Amino acid sequence: MKRQSRLAMPKGWRFTISAGDHHAGRQVFVDFECYKCHEVAGEDFPAPRVEQGNVGPALSGMGAMHPAEYFLETMIDPNASAAWRIKHHKDEDKGYLGADGTSKMPSYNDTMTTQQLIDLVAYLKGLTAGAHQH
Ligand code: HEC
Repeated sequence: MKRQSRLAMPKGWRFTISAGDHHAGRQVFVDFECYKCHEVAGEDFPAPRVEQGNVGPALSGMGAMHPAEYFLETMIDPNASAAWRIKHHKDEDKGYLGADGTSKMPSYNDTMTTQQLIDLVAYLKGLTAGAHQH
């Protein structure tokens, strides 16, 4: 029987997202109305309305806490690490998950271009003001 060949990749390879334009990324944040669910300290976006019931965590200072690829994952698949986040932040009671146990964060995979995604991640990575303490 033929042995399955190993995947070919450079030694020590790991996925890294390419550098984006954080100014363009801020515009993506506005255009996709992320501020409706996420507060960002130091920005003049309209504040999320708690009464809408599906508000997500504040993103202020997030850039210093996670690698860019983490933000990419939260965008491509909000459920991938939602469980970890909710455990880590002990926010179960904040209602980040819907009745079906999945993230209330919408999927943008069918509407956002790859370039918009790259720029948006650059914007999120640049959010270092107003961080909360861990
Ligand atoms: C309808 C409300 C809603 C909208 C709109 C929304 N999100 Fe979210 N988001 C959430 C919720 C709820 C969570 C927490 C659950 C989870 O992690 O999936 C979350 C989680 C996140 C996280 C992870 C935060 C952490 O603590 O690690 C990031 C980053 C994020 N959202 C970015 C965005 C961006 C960028 C947009 C716009 C393209 C956006 N969100 C739009 C509700 C929303």
